[in-house]
Parts: sequence; structure tokens; C-alpha cells
Amino acid sequence: MVKKRVDGREMNELRPIKIVPSVIERADGSAYLEWGQNKMIVAVYGPKEMLPKHLADSQRGKINFIYRMAPFSVPERKNPKPGRRDIEISKVVGEALSHAVLLEEFPGMVIDVYVQILDSNAGTRVAALTASSVALADAGIPMKDLVTAVAVGKANGNIIADLNKYEEDAEDAVDMAFAMLPGSEEIVLLQADGILSEDEFDKAIKIAKEKCQEVKKLQIEALKSKFKALKE
Ligand code: CDP
Repeated sequence: MVKKRVDGREMNELRPIKIVPSVIERADGSAYLEWGQNKMIVAVYGPKEMLPKHLADSQRGKINFIYRMAPFSVPERKNPKPGRRDIEISKVVGEALSHAVLLEEFPGMVIDVYVQILDSNAGTRVAALTASSVALADAGIPMKDLVTAVAVGKANGNIIADLNKYEEDAEDAVDMAFAMLPGSEEIVLLQADGILSEDEFDKAIKIAKEKCQEVKKLQIEALKSKFKALKE
């Protein structure tokens, strides 16, 4: 078991997080987020009529979530064409957000959520989910709660929060993307690779829940700062 993390963090310490809402004037809502080296922009458009119409659901609205990595956001140039990973992340993150947004209020409509990753170092899907929920709130979209996400897992014998890329590549690495509605603790995303014992899994989930509450505070502070600035 290694005692210290490669970047000097405590086992359950998150990388520094910065969230700035309302960064894109053209969008209905938006956010810029930095999470360690990860940097991204989210833009929300809608709710608007779903086109083509045959994709619309007459009972409820839909979220169209598009996750894309810029070619310069990874060490090896990323092909700008969406790959299987972009499509998978778009699907699972969009579904996670759908648990929070009151989609029954928008029958036949769609909300487009675009995430562009500018720089990356593991954990971009949970960071994108966290930023998107701030951008949706910024757009005034009604939600049950924010969605708050963190990665937890294992590296070098330790159960840790917020793995960086180096830790994700450890021989015993387990990377678990976790998201919940912080009020009810309803889990809306849980993806993991690798193997954890039952005890390790319980410990990881406990840390994930604690860390989500920490991230939620930052989301709320970011949104409050926007409305405070509007009042001044
Ligand atoms: O980013 P996240 O941890 O949610 O997803 P992942 O598929 O586990 O990817 C981990 C990291 O691998 C990303 O954050 C990127 O830094 C890196 N990556 C890369 O270098 N090249 C790619 N084509 C895709 C990801």
C-alpha cells in the first residue's frame, strides 16, 4: 500500500474545483468548470420543439446530451469525429440528468446540452455532469435537485476520491463514476471498471456521497455568485 498520492493529496481529497456560470451569452444557460487539469464549457439550449417531430415524446421532454473532447484536450490528438466513448458518455450523462430535470413539464420538447472538453486528466464525465447541472440551473430549467458527481475508486491499494489519470492507470485501479441528487441521495449514475471487495465498495460509496455534498456546495456558491452579481 502506497501512503502518499502522486500529487500530494489526501486519500479522499478532491482536486481544486472552480465553477463559473453564465459564460456563453448566446446560450440559455452555460457554465465553465475546472476540476484539477480538466477544463470544460457547457452550453444549454431550450426547452424547444423537438425536431424531427417523430423523435418527440408527447408525454415528456427529452435531454439531448452531447459530450465532445477537443482534439487538443488529450496527449494524443483526439479525432474530432465522435467515437464510441463520446457516444457512451453522452448517453449515460444525459440519462443521469433526466432523473433531475422535470421533463414532464415539457412534453414534445428537447433540451440540448453541449459539453466541450478543453483539457483532460481523468474524471471528465463526472465533471461534465456537475457542470451541466449548473448550466441547466443557469438556464432556469426546473429540476428536482442539482446533480452532483465524483469519481471514486482504488489505486495502489488505497480507496481514493477523484482519481487522476496516473492513478486510473495503476495496476489495481478501479475507477467508479458516481452521481446523485444530493438532497435525497438518489443515485443516478454508477459505472465502474475493475474489481472491489464488498468492504471496499461500501467504503468507496460512503466517500462518494460525502464528496458529492462537498461538490454541491461549490455548485450552489457558483449559482449564488451569479445572482448576487445581477443584483449589484
Ligand atoms: O474522463 P473520464 O475519466 O470520465 O473517462 P475515461 O474514459 O476513464 O478517460 C480517462 C481519461 O483518459 C480522460 O479524462 C482523458 O484524460 C484520457 N483520454 C485520452 O487521453 N484520450 C482519449 N481519446 C480519451 C480519454
